[in-house]
Amino acid sequence: MTEMQTMTEAPKRVFIRTYGCQMNVYDSDRMADALAPHGYEPTQELAEADLVLLNTCHIREKASEKVFSELGRLKELQGEKRAAGGDLMIGVAGCVAQAEGEEIARRAPVVDMVFGPQAYHRLPDMLARAQNQRHMHPSLRRAVIDTDFPEEDKFAHLPPARKDVTVARGLTAFLTVQEGCDKFCSFCVVPYTRGAEVSRPVAQVLDEARRLVDAGVKEITLLGQNVNAYHGVDAAGRDVGLGELAFLLAEIAGLERLRYTTSHPRDMDDGLIAAHRDLPLLMPYLHLPVQSGSDRILKAMNRKHTAAEYLALIERIKSARPDMALSGDFIVGFPGETDADFEDTLRIIRDTGYASAYSFKYSTRPGTPGATLDDQVPEPVKTERLARLQELVNQQTTAFHASCVGRTLPVLIERVGRMPGQVGGRSPYLQAVHLEGAVELIGGIHEVEIIGTSTNSLVGRLRSAAAA
Ligand code: 5AD
Ligand code: SF4
Repeated sequence: MTEMQTMTEAPKRVFIRTYGCQMNVYDSDRMADALAPHGYEPTQELAEADLVLLNTCHIREKASEKVFSELGRLKELQGEKRAAGGDLMIGVAGCVAQAEGEEIARRAPVVDMVFGPQAYHRLPDMLARAQNQRHMHPSLRRAVIDTDFPEEDKFAHLPPARKDVTVARGLTAFLTVQEGCDKFCSFCVVPYTRGAEVSRPVAQVLDEARRLVDAGVKEITLLGQNVNAYHGVDAAGRDVGLGELAFLLAEIAGLERLRYTTSHPRDMDDGLIAAHRDLPLLMPYLHLPVQSGSDRILKAMNRKHTAAEYLALIERIKSARPDMALSGDFIVGFPGETDADFEDTLRIIRDTGYASAYSFKYSTRPGTPGATLDDQVPEPVKTERLARLQELVNQQTTAFHASCVGRTLPVLIERVGRMPGQVGGRSPYLQAVHLEGAVELIGGIHEVEIIGTSTNSLVGRLRSAAAA
């Protein structure tokens, strides 16, 4: 193709639908970045897409099932586009792709590409191969499948986002520093879909963080399936844990806030707790799932700690950072969970006091040890337990919001508000805060007195224009 042709060709559009966790949100952006040099612009409009990528989640059965119903809809859209003389390429990425590979292509022949999270740097190449398939007789066409765990470092091969793209993505950004998990909790597919724990080298993380800050990002959330197990190497070949990494990131001028998610209690080491004590930029809001409050169930889940050890850990973290608030994850109805076990879970929630929590009914995942256990808990029991647990958590969330009233909190102002003359942002605890204020406040961290609460947010009043 000549340069002239390239220049006059309309850009192609990619629509990426993201399911699941923040790591998938990050990955979707990186896929968009990988496609940008090949002429693909992201679109939010499915109807104008030339390429649709589904970035899937395998964590629970419901999440997995969504893929196939979505593929049914996309087949119709492809049919409409073809009838109008156009076309649509379809790719399935993420954890369902990794786990089910060939099976997806077999069940849904409409799919052109199936590829796992470790193959995103090879997306342009896969796309070219899938486009070649289009020239073949339909009976010979095969989906391009890439679910290998390659030797090469994916991150070293993924292009960075264009600066204007990062600017447009806003003041807060995700940065994956670690992937995979070696913990093998008996309910969880992650060690199988995302593989063994791998940490990105320190220099690579710092470089990406500097690029983000250079494009105006004020707050970075470090991501990993088990992020506090981060152990990257530095230029001297030394092993650097997440706590030390936080100290290094804190030296980047212009980076105002740092968060990380999600963590395992057993990896909350002294270095990381010291970082919470010494680094004001490390936000006092920690996602530290415990899953259950029953020692019997914790053991069956292979969590390798007791309820008392978790509570003691929370004490240590809070003595390092007294304003620390917590969020967590809970599973109800793990095989063998009795009423007494469930009561233990309610008790640990009361004892810990969460600012927020995510809770799920246990979902059997093929290939995990949990799937082979007898004594599955009946669905209506799970439903009832989930409702009780969520009621307790909701009370705690409401109480936490109410406890903020009267306090002055630093708020990162991110956007104009819903009402004219209003702006909105986030507190250190990730609560949405609305206040009267000029658009010029956007991009700064401002001291805001919390004067009230509404359903899922706080109402504030600007106290000073000084950055916190
Ligand atoms: N069933 C229900 N919830 C699960 N989670 C992980 N695996 C399962 C499963 N099989 C929940 C855990 C985890 C969160 C990301 O998802 O609470 O912390
Ligand atoms: Fe899954 Fe447990 Fe690893 Fe978290 S720590 S990703 S729940 S195996």
